[in-house]
Amino acid sequence: MAVFSEHVSVEPMHSSDLDAVHRLDRLCFPTPWLDRAFQTELSNRAADYFVARNNSDVVGYGGYWLIMEVAHFTTVAVHPCHQGRNIGLRLMLAMFDEAILKGAKRAALEVREGNVSAQSLYHKFGFYQASLRKNYYTDNGENALIMWAEAIQSTLFRQRLLNVRQSLYS
Ligand SMILES: CC(C)(COP(=O)(O)OP(=O)(O)OC[C@H]1O[C@@H](n2cnc3c(N)ncnc32)[C@H](O)[C@@H]1OP(=O)(O)O)[C@@H](O)C(=O)NCCC(=O)NCCS
Repeated sequence: MAVFSEHVSVEPMHSSDLDAVHRLDRLCFPTPWLDRAFQTELSNRAADYFVARNNSDVVGYGGYWLIMEVAHFTTVAVHPCHQGRNIGLRLMLAMFDEAILKGAKRAALEVREGNVSAQSLYHKFGFYQASLRKNYYTDNGENALIMWAEAIQSTLFRQRLLNVRQSLYS
């Protein structure tokens, strides 16, 4: 069972976080975003980005775009030294809370076929595999799974979020 850490907070990302976020991005992904990408995202009115802080250190981040009532989760990552502490879960909760507040009705994302840990995280939020894009990733030709979560404004989905939230304290 993963232990909930009382030292970790999840907050909106600010420009003062960008250096740390870029460092983390390079650490967590084989094809990190370009240097100005997160800066651009912070000025994108359709986007919401969050960071997880362990005390003052940025140890995780995630974000989504809201387009036509669909929340497109663009990225989520946790520093390797802090993985398995429910930080990914808490970032996903923050993103869903905000997306639902802003009227999102569905959510979508893409994930590497071999990334079973991320897929397991997404399953907890009701994401299912809707389709597959062959040879999608440029670094190794890996396939992408396209995953959707439906009816995220529904009572059933809110109950799912509540269950996930409660699991942090069990
Ligand atoms: C995917 C990632 C964000 C998960 O973050 P995390 O903080 O370690 O995850 P959590 O501790 O919140 O775990 C939540 C759930 O995710 C899944 N999960 C996380 N790590 C896992 C692992 N190593 N193996 C299998 N499932 C895992 C589990 O379902 C877990 O729930 P459980 O503890 O009840 O089994 C993290 O592994 C990461 O940053 N990976 C590199 C970047 C990446 O691949 N991002 C996703 C891009 S699509």
